[in-house]
Amino acid sequence: MSGREPQRGGGRVALVELTGAEDMVAELRRLQDEWGPVAPVDLEPGVPGWLVLGHAEVMEVMRTESVFARDPRHWKERLPLDSTLHAILSPAGRRALYYADGADHRRLRLPMDEAFASLDEAQTAALVRGVCAGLIDAFATQGEADLIGEYAAAVSFLAVSGMFGFDERQGIALLRCAHGVFGHGGDAVAALAAMDQIVLDQVLATRAAPGNNLTARLVEHPSFENDTEIVHSMVVAICAANEMLVTWIAATLRRMLTDPRYTGRITGVRRGLDDALDETLWSEPPVANLPARYAVTDCTLGKVRIQAGDAIVMGVAAANNDPRVRTDDDTFEASNRSHLSFGVGPHACPARRPGRLVVKIAVESLMERLDLRLADPEVTWAPSPWSRYPAVLPVRFTPERQSARTPVRA
Ligand code: HEM
Repeated sequence: MSGREPQRGGGRVALVELTGAEDMVAELRRLQDEWGPVAPVDLEPGVPGWLVLGHAEVMEVMRTESVFARDPRHWKERLPLDSTLHAILSPAGRRALYYADGADHRRLRLPMDEAFASLDEAQTAALVRGVCAGLIDAFATQGEADLIGEYAAAVSFLAVSGMFGFDERQGIALLRCAHGVFGHGGDAVAALAAMDQIVLDQVLATRAAPGNNLTARLVEHPSFENDTEIVHSMVVAICAANEMLVTWIAATLRRMLTDPRYTGRITGVRRGLDDALDETLWSEPPVANLPARYAVTDCTLGKVRIQAGDAIVMGVAAANNDPRVRTDDDTFEASNRSHLSFGVGPHACPARRPGRLVVKIAVESLMERLDLRLADPEVTWAPSPWSRYPAVLPVRFTPERQSARTPVRA
């Protein structure tokens, strides 16, 4: 066991340096060589935590909620007021599955599982196709677009808010609030309050006139004790979906546009979209560093001593690239499902199927309609400690003749 522990200001690597590194996997291997399967990092400069790098150790954390809890009240850290980590890591007073453990988590999770199980896939696919077509209409005549700002971000939000029964105007309002909540400008507290209000209005409207959507399933569920729990659960689901979907869409598009196995330039046998989706889940997981669990008690993980109250981030990108579970053969790995990109254990993603549906339709709709070419092979990664995705994805294509709509921009 190593006696070394994360020291404040001790020259630890910050998560955002890992997600922004030119070769993230090489950086993760370097950390693993130095520390073994668990390494000290900064969640943001000056805020210490542990990054779990080994596949077995990430699974242990995800599955052992009695030791590694989700409830942020176990965290000993007091964040500075202006910390960008508040929205995700220390959301005071939120009552949702994401922040709960044990029986409380199971009570709050059940309605979400049942709601997703009842989702009509044909209806959802039609909704997503409509969202994608509308967004493509808005830039199809221009011959160029940024597929992050003008497409992926809006598809993700409008598709998921649509599943909850929001119309496009409400979806765009929610998207703007989410930008504020996650520190992309403006007052995060006011943005969260505005988001809660839009969602509460939808809960009340749905109760008066239930439709066939996720909100209708949630408002009728006996597990919830009050509307605050429903609102907070909806907000967390809409936000949890967003960055994951944007990242998965962006990474799959880049793969389809640059990898010769998909462009068909070298073998003459093009691999398909489903292969690209699976390879991306393995190699570029939508959430590279998954926040967070908090140690309930002193314990040992990998070779390090963890103290009660420490924050633990699950290194999904590192775990997926752990040589103990991964070969270098992408073709083989496409059918190997032991990646951790959807999580495992009690908090594993309840929306794998709809998530995949959204990403598949988003990529398909674009590729079927426009002859996309990347306008710039260089990538600038968005500054996120959790995900690695391009800040912009500029493409060119043969413009279509008619414009139908004005652009939606986050
Ligand atoms: C329709 C889109 C999606 C929705 C509505 C959604 C919703 C959620 C919710 C509500 C949770 C919290 C579960 C809990 O705490 O019990 C969650 C967890 C999670 N989701 Fe999703 N999700 C979506 C898409 C995705 C995608 C595309 C990915 C990545 C491929 C993903 C990966 C995850 C992961 C890794 C967790 C786990 C977290 C953990 O163990 O802490 N999700 N998701």
